[in-house]
Amino acid sequence: MLAGVAMRVSSPVLVGRSGQLSLLDTALAESGRGSPSAVLVGGEAGVGKSRLVSDFAERSRGQGARVLAGGCLELGVDGLPFAPFTAMLRELVRDLGPDGIAALLPGGTARELARLLPEFGEPAGTGDAGEARARLFEQVLVLLEQLADAGPVVLVIEDTHWADRSTRDLLAFLIRNQRALDGLLIVVTYRSDELHRSHPLRPLLAELDRVGWVTRMDLGRLSRPDTGELVARLLGHDPGEDVLETVYRRTEGNPLFVEALLGEGELGSGLPESLRDLLVAGVRRLPDETQELVRVASAAGERVGYALLAAVTGQDNAGLARALRPAVAANVLLTDADGFMFRHALIREAMHDELLPGEGGQLHSRFAEAIGADPALVPPGRAAAEQAHHWYAAHDMTRALTSAWQAAEESSHALAHAEQLAMLSRVLELWEQVPGAEQRIGTGKVEVLETATRAAELAGEFDRGITFARAALRQIDIVADPIRAALLLEISGHLKYQLGGDDYAADLREAARLVPVDPPTPARARVLEALAHDIHHRPGGWDDAEFRAHAEEAVAVARQAGDPATEAAALVTLACAEPLTGNMERPRALLAEARAVAVRANAYQPLLRVAITESDMLEGMGQHELAATVARAGIAAARDYGLARTSGAVLAVNLAEPLVSLGRWDEAGEVIERALQLLPPRLSRSSLWRLAGDMALARGDLDTAADCVTSIRATLDHTRYKDEHQLPLARLETELRLAQARPADALAVVEDTLDRFDLLRSPRYTWPLLAAGALACAPGATAGDRALLTRTAALRDRLRTAAGKLAAEGPAQQAHQRTFAAEVMSADGSSPAVPGPAGPGAGHGTHPGGIRAAWDDAAQAWEAVAQPYPQAAALLRTAEAALSAGDRDEGATRLRGAATLAQELGAHPLSRDIALVARRARVSLSPESKPGERPAGAGSTAQSPRPEPALGLTAREYDVLRLIAAGHSNREIASELFISVKTASVHVSNILGKLGVTSRGEAAATAHRLRLFTS
Ligand SMILES: Nc1ncnc2c1ncn2[C@@H]1O[C@H](COP(=O)(O)OP(=O)(O)OP(=O)(O)O)[C@@H](O)[C@H]1O
Ligand SMILES: [Mg+2]
Repeated sequence: MLAGVAMRVSSPVLVGRSGQLSLLDTALAESGRGSPSAVLVGGEAGVGKSRLVSDFAERSRGQGARVLAGGCLELGVDGLPFAPFTAMLRELVRDLGPDGIAALLPGGTARELARLLPEFGEPAGTGDAGEARARLFEQVLVLLEQLADAGPVVLVIEDTHWADRSTRDLLAFLIRNQRALDGLLIVVTYRSDELHRSHPLRPLLAELDRVGWVTRMDLGRLSRPDTGELVARLLGHDPGEDVLETVYRRTEGNPLFVEALLGEGELGSGLPESLRDLLVAGVRRLPDETQELVRVASAAGERVGYALLAAVTGQDNAGLARALRPAVAANVLLTDADGFMFRHALIREAMHDELLPGEGGQLHSRFAEAIGADPALVPPGRAAAEQAHHWYAAHDMTRALTSAWQAAEESSHALAHAEQLAMLSRVLELWEQVPGAEQRIGTGKVEVLETATRAAELAGEFDRGITFARAALRQIDIVADPIRAALLLEISGHLKYQLGGDDYAADLREAARLVPVDPPTPARARVLEALAHDIHHRPGGWDDAEFRAHAEEAVAVARQAGDPATEAAALVTLACAEPLTGNMERPRALLAEARAVAVRANAYQPLLRVAITESDMLEGMGQHELAATVARAGIAAARDYGLARTSGAVLAVNLAEPLVSLGRWDEAGEVIERALQLLPPRLSRSSLWRLAGDMALARGDLDTAADCVTSIRATLDHTRYKDEHQLPLARLETELRLAQARPADALAVVEDTLDRFDLLRSPRYTWPLLAAGALACAPGATAGDRALLTRTAALRDRLRTAAGKLAAEGPAQQAHQRTFAAEVMSADGSSPAVPGPAGPGAGHGTHPGGIRAAWDDAAQAWEAVAQPYPQAAALLRTAEAALSAGDRDEGATRLRGAATLAQELGAHPLSRDIALVARRARVSLSPESKPGERPAGAGSTAQSPRPEPALGLTAREYDVLRLIAAGHSNREIASELFISVKTASVHVSNILGKLGVTSRGEAAATAHRLRLFTS
């Protein structure tokens, strides 16, 4: 499957784990503030403990911390006491020299340390062993204390499940005495799966757990989406759903296993040797009787019921329990009330691989027979599928085929489309190997292929559906059976459409050509409906008269042919032909009609399409609450119909979107997370990422937002243009680049989007893009860069022209339109809100009162559609305008309104901007103090030549910030201001501190956002 693909051995970036990293960051910060801190990181082998800790160490080093690290060795028990401490000291000696270390210690001697490292000479020989040990411990403590005095220190002790007694004692001593170690963070890792009941680390962990400053961190496996990202990073490209599905099923998100499997090149083949050894090592230590049982269980599948195992082995319950107990104690198996499972799927696989060739087959036959005799031995509805699996593994192809067919039928009744698809694939796989397959299941191959095509569609496996449809088409005589061929072409075209390719239309047209006009048939209705749908979604096709004509004809033909499901679908498509204005009476009436028809016919797919279309329309018109309600009901229905992965994911997008608009971000995050877990088709995935990116950006998590943009881009690069995908991406990317202080890149995104797409057809997605574009053109954003200024002038004209021609349908689009107008007006006025160094009167043209009114308008429009985030942003702008006009009361009121909203949202960058404006204007954000009250002696802001010392910056720092904003390095700043590089760097760090940001990029972005240096 992956043969010949160049692959990285390990991922260049750490996937996921942002929560854990920030926990470690916090712990380090705390230890620097004088509260001791230690983190115990536990997790199974290969889950990423070392990787997490080393990435953290790297970033701590980058921030000036000293990292000391040592690991325990597997044979440490009687080999090398204190192994990790010796390793850590050796590193330190390399760094400071033995004398450098000795100089840190009382009396200038490191003789106690000689017990760990011969470089320090002869150990002090006096006193008894106990006392010597105490002195050694003391000396390590003092050494760490001295090092931590000079700056933050991270001490990492890895793999303590292998720690010898001495190491455990010294570690416990250090942690207990950590109060003395200001500025030292201790990080300890251990394999939780090695900790059998009597493991000596257990009591130590329990004891340390009671120490107030110790945090336990259980590092779990990667989530499904994170596993997907890891696979993509390793392969260097998106893996595709089936590869990902296989990898995730086998590795269950353990990164080491992911690497090992992908490293094999062939996913279908067995386990790499090294990995197998690691996995079976634990089983080998078990008693023979237990090992035997574990081997039998490995043939059973992921979960085994006690009753089934008893039936196959002939053992009674007591015997089973006795034999299983050691496997549970050794963490090989996990139990619950009526059965058990392997701790990891790969352990089962490794054990299964060890079965002798004949032995495996026999075992599987026994399982199949036992289940056949008593289906109640497996969970309800699973019997046929389990038998199919065992007969196949036992190489009894005939029985494998018939039971797979039976299982497929049962899955279909249970609406379990993915399972149905798996079983049908099995039937097709075995078809040629079983003589008389058609007679045995009473169905022909073409029909099996057709059923498989539809199951693939329902399961969201669009690629495979196309393959099945093609195979079926090759088998039928198109002249003799045009309707059958047309329907296959129709479904194949539809699947291609769903995949986002642009080659779908040919199939649909060919289908329409094949299907006879007379008499009206359900087939003709279906094909016409598909064609109308196609035209509707062809770029720029929505107002096509042809579209409406096809949809109307589809409705009529479906009615004549008595096919309510297609009639309902065609009514939905027709609803999309209606212009969206006012209260959307007409489209909603059509949707209501579609729903009624679908309900009467019990046709769930059109029902879900009604929900998808309606929630989307409502959201587009700014009716967020209603949109969310409709989408939520739709998700529940999709789940009931077994379509959570396909229609359900689209509806999850349609639910998350209004939740994001309404500022209910945590809720939206959960919806997105849950939908991504199901690994939906790629277009849905990219929409979910986009919404996640919007929230991350607003919350100030630029890394996540940037990751989202990269992932979406990679997905959309292979799909046709669709406004709902490309335009919001362009908007998000523009905003991201601005936040990253990359104004030229922001401009490039907008320019490129204007060049490539016809935006006038998509007001819903174009207005937000225009507003973002206007922001990118704002005078402050370009940081006085001449070349950029010319570009922004040109771009602003283009944006204005586009806005002049663009319709604004409904209140949400109108709110964007007002924001755009206010932004452009501010830029034209270009008078800094609170005058910057250029002083008042630098602006021209637009009256400041006009700007304020424009932003007031925008804020009200956002309030009317209940979108608190853009409302808060607009309030900030109107507050700035009010303050700049000297209207402190109004300014303060608006600023407080903005502050409350931003705080409730957790929109940190916006909150920070609001706080900075408040500080600059000396307005208190707390409601108690009277508005307009100023500290005595403060000059009028409107008059002062520069806002010094506003923002808490000194005049000098203000100059430095200007240069940072213009992208200068410390060296350039130094030469510009005639100061030393060191002084410049001190200024820079002070500025970052005062602005509450962590990088100069962010500082620059803040300066731009606040339009500090507009000229
Ligand atoms: N979050 C992650 N992102 C990318 N790669 C990862 C991640 N976690 C682990 N890996 C990779 O998986 C492999 C195993 O991880 P690691 O060695 O950190 O596991 P471990 O928990 O320390 O295992 P052990 O108990 O055997 O020491 C490494 O190659 C590592 O780079
Ligand atoms: Mg490790």
